Amino acid sequence: MNDGVSDGVSAAVAVVVPTAEEMRAFGERLAGLLRAGDLLVLTGDLGAGKTTLTQGIGAGLNVRGPVTSPTFVIARVHPPLGDGPALVHVDAYRLGGFAELDDLDLDASLDDAVTIVEWGAGLAEGLADERLELIISRGPEGTGEERVVRVAGVGARWAHMPDDLH
Ligand SMILES: Nc1ncnc2c1ncn2[C@@H]1O[C@H](COP(=O)(O)OP(=O)(O)OP(=O)(O)O)[C@@H](O)[C@H]1O
Ligand SMILES: [Mg+2]
Repeated sequence: MNDGVSDGVSAAVAVVVPTAEEMRAFGERLAGLLRAGDLLVLTGDLGAGKTTLTQGIGAGLNVRGPVTSPTFVIARVHPPLGDGPALVHVDAYRLGGFAELDDLDLDASLDDAVTIVEWGAGLAEGLADERLELIISRGPEGTGEERVVRVAGVGARWAHMPDDLH
């Protein structure tokens, strides 16, 4: 597996997130920048906060919840409650390779949904040339609640992302 950041990154920024609640708030803020067709690839260890971030994004997009950590379900579609895009939430942890990811038929909804792939590094890049890559790591002590989210935009779509995020 690679470190979660692709070649060709056009812009990157790091955000310190002290608590789970603030991770959800960050997700809500991030959702304000998202539109149908966007792909987000989330990388981070078990329990890093990928699903917690996705919950915030789901709240910000105003989609039907709950966004959960799927044990057996690999992909879940959260329909919009308003007139925004749906959220497609994929957990690629158990997927064997790109063929299996492609077989989920995500292409059908990629254009009209926001798609988030947990554990997608090394797999999901093949779904779209332009994407937002988010790498969540624990803070310097490694034990507390603090997380650092590195956000890297790939492609012209995300060229101004760091400014928009602040
Ligand atoms: N700053 C923080 N950001 C996010 N989650 C935090 C933070 N501090 C504590 N937590 C807790 O860490 C856990 C993160 O779990 P979560 O399911 O979001 O991780 P994950 O990366 O999706 O794990 P998995 O690899 O199992 O899917 C939650 O219990 C959450 O409450
Ligand atoms: Mg998860």
